[in-house]
Order: sequence, then structure tokens, then C-alpha cells
Amino acid sequence: MSKYIVMGSQWGDEGKGKIVDNISQNMDLVVRFQGGANAGHTVIIEDKKYVLHLIPSGIISGKAKNIIGNGCVIDPITLAEEIEEMKNSGIKIQTNKFFISSGAHIVTPLHKILDNKLNKKIGTTSRGIGPAYMDKAQRSGIRMDSIVDGSFEKKFYEHLEYYKNIYSFIDETTINEIKNMLPNILESIKIIKPFITDTENIIYDSIQNNENILYEGAQGTLLDIDHGTYPFVTSSSTTIGGAFTGSGVFVEFDKRIGIMKSYTTRVGEGPFPTELHDEIGEKLRKNGNEFGATTGRPRRCGWLDLPLVKKAIMLNGFNYFVITKLSCLSGFDKIKVAIDYDKNNKPIYKEFEGWQKEVYGITDINELPKNCINYIEFIEKYLNVPIGIISTGPNRKHVIIKNNL
Ligand code: IMP
Repeated sequence: MSKYIVMGSQWGDEGKGKIVDNISQNMDLVVRFQGGANAGHTVIIEDKKYVLHLIPSGIISGKAKNIIGNGCVIDPITLAEEIEEMKNSGIKIQTNKFFISSGAHIVTPLHKILDNKLNKKIGTTSRGIGPAYMDKAQRSGIRMDSIVDGSFEKKFYEHLEYYKNIYSFIDETTINEIKNMLPNILESIKIIKPFITDTENIIYDSIQNNENILYEGAQGTLLDIDHGTYPFVTSSSTTIGGAFTGSGVFVEFDKRIGIMKSYTTRVGEGPFPTELHDEIGEKLRKNGNEFGATTGRPRRCGWLDLPLVKKAIMLNGFNYFVITKLSCLSGFDKIKVAIDYDKNNKPIYKEFEGWQKEVYGITDINELPKNCINYIEFIEKYLNVPIGIISTGPNRKHVIIKNNL
């Protein structure tokens, strides 16, 4: 029996989707516990690309039960579209394999308007995530259980009234536009309703039955609402604490897996000490195809920042690392890694000799260039946590297993 949790150790987009997909093939249960359609997990299997926003990556294997936990926020239209897209790609979405928590909160079109009006300086994904969590904390949110008990429509109208009286930019025209979207929302609700249930019981039963469980984090540690680079963060708990509140069950994870990109990226605003504004940053963006899966925005790129990854270890208790996108570092003369900060909070770098050999798709560690191995060994020693998997390309098969899970 395995109980794993996978989380991003940086600002998201570390390549969690592919790793989760790899692990989830042996899982009985996969759980999403925070965030919403702001996440974008890309999984490539035999040249077929799947982009998942809300549905756990375990759905692709077809074997695992998949849960969207109470800590998530769900836009019914987006989720219904995602369900349809998956079905069109040949992925089965069945009520004995996919479950939505009745305690998860609903994202409305008004939340998206609020997001665009109020959160510009954060550079959000415009998916209404922050305002949906704001409503949750304010105790005025609409939960999935309202779909089951039939109170959704009433609550939806109350929600519009509530905000009309708070913000002057929500005028009658806006309200009418949103009201016109209601039939569309109700159609989507019809699609998702059969999957809504008390998911904590499914997770608890799974533990009692000694099943293999995987918790799939979205975004990354440094986007955590409490522990990230506040206020330039997302609105949920992306770190391990969020797994418990966001699913309603305590799980004794035996492997706490940190996903670390071999360099650093972030989208949106906020501090990024190792960011590169020059042609090296451009090259990283190009090599790594660093454009958001959800928004298409170019990601900011820079060198790996190890003190920040150390902080992620402190927060999450990572005891196993996966390093991703190593192939994107081929072709650099020198590669730098931040190992500390000076008194002005500027990164102090260690410089490595680069490697020219293409490492894309390599599956045998002995085929990696020496300089590449030096780089990985240094990181492993610095973090004092084993790097178990090295990802060398986007495909499911593009991995080097250094230490078995
Ligand atoms: P929000 O989650 O849409 O509210 O956006 C808040 C911040 O988190 C912004 O800087 C976003 O770019 C960032 N963010 C949200 N989701 C992701 C993700 O999946 N990957 C990387 N950054 C994200």
C-alpha cells in the first residue's frame, strides 16, 4: 500500500501532471485538494496531449477513482467542458471513478468579473479563483451541495444581489448579462451533478481498505496563500496542510514528493530573485516552451533557486524529489544555481559547466553527460533529499528512475 502526495516545490508548472500520470497508473485513488481551473496539467501519452484543469490526472489511467476535494473551487461550465473533452479523447468519466465533493465551492461568472477588476496587480489567471475563495471565507459562497439540494438557483440570484450592492461597477447591465448565462450554467450543472457526493468517506474507506492513494497538488509551494510570496500568490493552500483541510481526511503519506524544475519559472507578478531578463532567459523559455497551459502567457524564466526549494522541503516534508525538464538545459555554456542570498537579498550563485549533448528522452542515467550528472548530484547533496526520478522529456516514457518510489 502506498500513500503519496505530489506537490510543486516552486511557483507551479514544474511538470507535475506527467509525474502524477506516471504514478497514478498504479493507484486506486487520486485526489485534488485545492485550486481550480487555474491549474493546467499537461500529460502526453503516445503523442496524444491531454490538458487537465480540474479533473485529477488519474482519470487517464482509467483504473483509479478520482476525487475533486472540498478544498477546490469549481466553475461548472469549465468542468462540464473538460468532462466532454476527455470523453471525446476516449477517456471514460464514470460515476464509480469520478467524484466531486459536495463541500467544494462554485465559481460563478461574477467571480471572473471580480477577478479581472480587483486582482490585476497579481496577474491572476482570470478564472475567478480568488473571488470564489473570498466568498468561501466570507461565508457567502455557493457550494456543490446546493446543486444536490436544489438551492443553487436561489443562491445564485442572492449572490448577484449581494455584489450589486457592494461594487458600483456591477451595474444592471452586468447583472443581466450574468443572468443570461444561467441556462448555460444549469446545463453544465446537469452534467456534473451525478458526480457530487461526500468524498471524504470515499477517501477514508480507501485508507481502511489499504488502497494505493495519491494526492495531486496544483500550483506550487511559493504560490501558497499563507507561505508563498504574498500577496503574489493564489488563494488556496498549495502546501501539505491544504491536503488535509482540502480533502477532510488525515492521510499518513509515506512519500511526500516534491517536483522541481531544473530551472525556475513563474507566471504573473511578484518577486523572482533568479529571473533572467536577457537572452539566456529567452533561451530557457524557448527550450522549455514556457507558455502557460491555462492562459498561454509567456512564463518568466530564471536559474534554479535552491534556498527556495529548501523552504519547500521545510513546509512539505519532501522525502523524494523529481527533477524535470532537464533536456531544456542542454546547449548552455554555463549553468547557474542560487545557493544563498547576500545581505541585499541578491542571489549568490554557484556556476556549473554546461553540456551540449541532447538529453531529450534519455532513460538510462549512464547516457547523461558528466556535467549534467554533476549538476544533479550537487542539487541532491544541497537539498539532502534523494532525487528519485529525472524527467528528460514530456512523454510518459521519458524518465530515468534513479531510486524507486
Ligand atoms: P490565481 O490562482 O488565478 O488567482 O492567480 C494567482 C497567481 O498564481 C498568479 O500569479 C498566477 O499566474 C499564479 N498561478 C495560478 N495557477 C497557476 C499554475 O497552475 N501555474 C503557475 N502559476 C499559477
